[in-house]
Amino acid sequence: MTAEFVSEGPDATEELGAGIAGLLAPGDVVVLRGDLGAGKTTLVRAAARALGVEGPVTSPTFAIANSYAGRVPVAHLDAWRLGDPDDEELGLALESVGPDSVAFVEWPDAVLHGLPDPRVRVDIAHGGGDRRVLRLDGADPGTDASLEALCDDLRARHRNA
Ligand SMILES: Nc1ncnc2c1ncn2[C@@H]1O[C@H](COP(=O)(O)OP(=O)(O)O)[C@@H](O)[C@H]1O
Ligand SMILES: [Mg+2]
Repeated sequence: MTAEFVSEGPDATEELGAGIAGLLAPGDVVVLRGDLGAGKTTLVRAAARALGVEGPVTSPTFAIANSYAGRVPVAHLDAWRLGDPDDEELGLALESVGPDSVAFVEWPDAVLHGLPDPRVRVDIAHGGGDRRVLRLDGADPGTDASLEALCDDLRARHRNA
């Protein structure tokens, strides 16, 4: 099942990111797909904040992986530059991913075989201007139901805003 949320601006995408963070536990992985500028990093930054990360959360495109100390350790990977990583590159990229941390992975496909099954998959499509269409898939029916409820809640709040 796929939950869908139409975001009309960065704020709404950030609210969704914070909401997703609330569903996560140590060991969980969230993968994010979507073109450059779709809002992957925007969502991850808000999720990291909600997990207690302070200070700047910037795109790790050149570092591949950033890690932060929140209430749980937060790993943020961007595998954009990892075309076809060898085992060593893969190991380095995934160093901060583990059972104690929550990991967010942009452009996950190159590293997918080294990751646990993602708890949440996020796909973001441009919808013209500041509009973005976000599709969310959970690892299990319980997560799907939580994602659906999260999207319903955001829609209701934005209708009343
Ligand atoms: N609805 C929206 N959701 C997320 N970002 C948006 C939205 N509308 C405009 N933006 C802008 O688009 C850009 C998204 O950049 P970023 O999050 O770095 O994307 P990505 O990591 O997918 O390349 C930011 O400048 C952000 O302010
Ligand atoms: Mg990014």
